[in-house]
Parts: sequence; C-alpha cells; structure tokens
Amino acid sequence: LISTFHLSNPFTLVAPELSQIRTDLVRLLGSAHPGLDEIASYYFLRPSKQLRPLLILLFSQATNGLGKDWPLKKWTSEQPCPGGRSEYLDTALSRPNVLNDWNPAMQDKTTFYDPTFSLSLPPTSTELPHPPSSIFSSTDRGITSPASILPTQMRLAQIVEMVHAASLLHDDVIDESPLRRGSASAPQVFGNKFSVLGGNFILGRASAALARLGDPEVTQLIASVIANLVEGEILQMQDVESAEDVLAVPSSQIAQNAWKMYLQKTYMKTASLMAKGARSAVVLGGCADGEIYKELRTRTVVTSELRSSLLTTSLTTEAVEDTLGKPGGADLQLGLATGPALYAWEEHPEMGPLIERKFRELGDVELARDLVRKSAGVERTRALAIAYATQARDVLQPLPESEARAALEALTERVIKRRS
Ligand code: FPP
Ligand code: MG
Ligand code: MG
Repeated sequence: LISTFHLSNPFTLVAPELSQIRTDLVRLLGSAHPGLDEIASYYFLRPSKQLRPLLILLFSQATNGLGKDWPLKKWTSEQPCPGGRSEYLDTALSRPNVLNDWNPAMQDKTTFYDPTFSLSLPPTSTELPHPPSSIFSSTDRGITSPASILPTQMRLAQIVEMVHAASLLHDDVIDESPLRRGSASAPQVFGNKFSVLGGNFILGRASAALARLGDPEVTQLIASVIANLVEGEILQMQDVESAEDVLAVPSSQIAQNAWKMYLQKTYMKTASLMAKGARSAVVLGGCADGEIYKELRTRTVVTSELRSSLLTTSLTTEAVEDTLGKPGGADLQLGLATGPALYAWEEHPEMGPLIERKFRELGDVELARDLVRKSAGVERTRALAIAYATQARDVLQPLPESEARAALEALTERVIKRRS
C-alpha cells in the first residue's frame, strides 16, 4: 500500500500545538510559592523533544472522527461522528478495570518476553480488509487536514508531560545525577528534599487535571502508569539471580530471565506512559467503542506499537552510545545490563559474572565495554530495534491514511536513525 502522505519530520505537523502545550504547562503548575513554582517548572523550561505529547497529538489526529462504525461507515462535516464523549461516558463505568493490563498472565507472552520469537510472527497488516484509501482521505472523513485536536487531548498531553517530569525529578534523586539534558539537575540546584517535594506537587496537579477530564477509563490508565513507573524502577534495582556456574552458560534460564526483566523494565519505565497515553487520546476522541479501537487493541497497537518504538528508542540509544564508547557506560556504571551487554554475554560467557555483580568491581565497566565491542551485541541490538520498529509500522496499517498516520510511520523510522 503506497501512502499518499509523506512526512519527513513528524514534529512539524503539530508544532504549534506542541509549543502551546509547553506555554500552558507552566501556568498549570503555578502556586502561591515562588520557590515551588521554580522547582515545578524547572524541567519544562529547557529544550525537550516532547516525544510523549507528540505521540498523543498524532494518535488524536489519526483517530479523531473515526467514531464507532469505521470502516463500515464514514462521517462527514455535515454528518459528524455520533460516538462523542457524552455517549462514551455512559458506558465508561461498565468497562473492565484496566489497572492490571500489564499482567504477564494476561499478555501474549510470546510477543513480549522473547524478542526473537515475536519477530517471527506473521505480519498482522493482512488480517484486516483495508478499505480503498481514496474513500478515507482526510477530507472525506470530514476532518480538515490536519484533523482537529480536542482540548481534552491537549490537556492529556500536558498531564503526561507532568507525570514524566515528576518521575525525572525523583529519578535524579535516586540516581544522584548531577546533570539532566546537559544542565544541572534539579537535586543539584535545589537539593534532594525540594526535588522530591517538587515531583509530588507536579503529580498532585496532574491528578487534579486528570480528574477534570471526567473520564474514568483515562483516569485509570494514567494512574496505572504512575504505578508502572515505580514498578519499573523497582525491577531495575533487582539483582539478576546469582549462581556463578549458571551465569557462565548464557543460554540458561537465568539469561532468559535477564532479557525478560530488561524488556519488562523498559515497558514499565518508559513505554507504559507513551502507550497508555496514546490509548487515552483515542478514548477521549470517542473511538473507544468503535471498530478501529477494537482493531487497535486486538493488535495491541496502542500498547504494543508504542512499547515497540519505545524499546527501539532505548535499545538504539544504548547501542549507539556503546558504539561510540562514550556515556554508553552510563548504564553499565549504574549496574544495568541492556541489549548490547546481554547479547555480548551470549558470545562471551565472561560477561555473566560482570552482569551478576552489576559491574561493581574496579575495571568491570571497561571490561564489559570491551566485550560489547568484541561481540556483535551492538549490531544485534540494532537489528532487534529495526525489527520492533517494523512491527510498529505494521500495526499502524488499519488506520486510514492521513498525515498523522504518515507522521507516526515517520517516527518509527526516526527512532531507528536517532543518534542522540
Ligand atoms: C529515567 O530513567 C527514569 C524514568 C523514566 C522513570 C523513573 C521512575 C521513578 C523514579 C518512580 C517515581 C515515579 C513518579 C511518577 C514520581 P533513567 O534513570 O534510566 O534515565 P535518565 O536519568 O538518563 O533519563
Ligand atoms: Mg536517571
Ligand atoms: Mg534512573
């Protein structure tokens, strides 16, 4: 299927909205305490890629107006989609609880735990009969191009940014990090106590804004993200099981567990916010009961696509950094074994004990880096990242063609090419 739309820079499509989100955020965080204002807005006043709001805005644009009956019926500006929010709210309370949607027992383990297995799954894009793209051009859908983004979706993007910033304030305390994006971190400037309090304050404001959206499913989704962030952080702190003789056999259960934990941790710490944020955007757009939403969920797009691109982001960044040999060691220094190190372990069993003791001993980080360089760890991680991104592209296929979908597709490509 050849797309009518091509976008090389996914950010340009919603650039004005992204900048408005930033400006208004600082207002949302205003308090009666200038000191608190300073901490709360500290991470919002420096340049940021705004990847999370970008995903929310693009998913909003790509699905707004599709309504319940797409692809069987299309809506026009004369006959707008009736699946709006009021109708949605009536049914929202009867929906199943989504707090547990990251429950390994409820997931298709094969597509998540075992990266190589998931890659051999057949492409899902052939399963859904695709309507002729001409029927669903953006004007036919009754949506001017770019499709309008609802005020609730703009607010959602801000809430997601707030949750992210709160987690970074806490993270920089936990990691004792002096820097964030090249400048002094909040704990460096304000101290640990104020950074923790600042993070809590932002979470409070985010919760109030969430309540005001008045959507129970979205509230549950975002609340569960906050829990996921903490779970991810805790997972990261857990040791890889130790037993030196077993660690020397990289194909062992322990090595598989290390992969499992790495992927699970990445989902919790990073992908969950993007995935559930995007899902919330689709819900707010009134598509939650519609065919397209079911289709997206069946393919676990809204969760899996984002999870995939997020894994990709994280895997690729680490791979590239390891190639360059620069802060690549950052993860190792924190005792974390990521993609390249885990692959290197398969080729060099000596990596096992280093992973087990979290690269704690003098010279461990350098040794681990050498082993990564000697191995195909970086190339294999990159290949894995590309495969995830390809899957991510596939799952966008049921969406009608639009600039927003093209931008999401472009994003999966950028994620692979990203250098920083
Ligand atoms: C950055 O990871 C940290 C996160 C993405 C999440 C951290 C989560 C918590 C501290 C739990 C508390 C959560 C809330 C909502 C208050 P990193 O340290 O690997 O990367 P970075 O520091 O280099 O960005
Ligand atoms: Mg950190
Ligand atoms: Mg951290």
